[in-house]
Amino acid sequence: MSKPAGGRFFVTGALGHIGSRLIRWLPTRFPGAEVVMLDDLSCQRYCSLFNLPEAGRYRFVEADVVSADLRPLAEDAVVIHLAAITDATNSFANAERVAHVNFGGTQRVAEACVAVGAPMIHLSSTSVYGSQKALVDEDCPASELVPQSPYADVKLREESLLRTMRAERGLRHIDCRFGTIAGPSHGMRFHTAVNKFCWQAVMGLPLTVWRTALHQKRPYLALDDAVAAIGFIIERDLFDGQTYNVVSDNLTVDGVIACIRQYIPDLQIACVDAPIMNQLSYEVSRRKFIDAGFRFRGSLTESIGATLAMIAQGNGVDITIPRLTADAAARPFAANL
Ligand SMILES: NC(=O)c1ccc[n+]([C@@H]2O[C@H](COP(=O)([O-])OP(=O)(O)OC[C@H]3O[C@@H](n4cnc5c(N)ncnc54)[C@H](O)[C@@H]3O)[C@@H](O)[C@H]2O)c1
Repeated sequence: MSKPAGGRFFVTGALGHIGSRLIRWLPTRFPGAEVVMLDDLSCQRYCSLFNLPEAGRYRFVEADVVSADLRPLAEDAVVIHLAAITDATNSFANAERVAHVNFGGTQRVAEACVAVGAPMIHLSSTSVYGSQKALVDEDCPASELVPQSPYADVKLREESLLRTMRAERGLRHIDCRFGTIAGPSHGMRFHTAVNKFCWQAVMGLPLTVWRTALHQKRPYLALDDAVAAIGFIIERDLFDGQTYNVVSDNLTVDGVIACIRQYIPDLQIACVDAPIMNQLSYEVSRRKFIDAGFRFRGSLTESIGATLAMIAQGNGVDITIPRLTADAAARPFAANL
């Protein structure tokens, strides 16, 4: 297995939902590597730093990605840029701040990468799509890139910025459009519907489903697949400037609820008005990333089950997580291949 140059990783936003799993996983995949973690603690996820594995060589830097001196941190490292304001729904009320932190932060990280010659993994989102088509891919016409929130709009602008920096200044990067993450981590957040439903289900509360969204399909990404995808990119040195959808499966909200019902059959649903009136239903193809050699092995049902199990003790709920059979682990998801 090839190792990244210097065995060093610089992870921004390292204490968040994805980062807190990734920082624990990196030393198992790349033994002996140093993991430099930057976070401004704006999300208060101090607990993500608790009980890090002894095998890891960690260093935490409390700093704002928009103002910190990033060059020394990026030197000799693979840079994984996760720091962002990520609540898409609230980004309507918060658009300027989202642009400042997300676009400004991405620009500063990319500047540091260019200055020291470090490769950069940039996380975009499948929410950049606003397609009416059943299945959309990375090569879709611009008319199908219709971001549904200021958060998604900024993601698209970040992608464009990085392409320009690649062309003009030699940035080595990759853009990953992640689906909505499912699966627990030390620093997980609960403002995505799938996590909020898991919380409500365990607590015996009605699941608050947006009235318009029940039958809309959306792309999801098992957290296991998310960290494996980052490892795959590093091992393959896949900093080809391309955009890849990284999606475990596409599900309707109904489908997500069906997954939860497998563990907690007795669920109440409460339909509520949606703050974002997005009427679109679409599936996102993951074919391009599979063609690059990646195998998706994550299971949304299992990721949701693991999330429920993590919360369950708090409400005396007994959740049994079925182990994946070898067959299930190897099977490709039927959708969108
Ligand atoms: N989780 C998902 O469903 C999902 C889906 C698609 C894309 N993404 C993208 O993946 C990346 C990571 O997402 P996540 O779910 O882990 O997010 P998260 O909100 O859980 O974590 C983000 C982290 O960034 C930190 N942060 C925020 N502003 C900062 C700043 N100015 N300086 C330094 N740190 C700062 C926060 O404190 C937090 O710990 C983001 O770019 C997000 O847009 C996430």
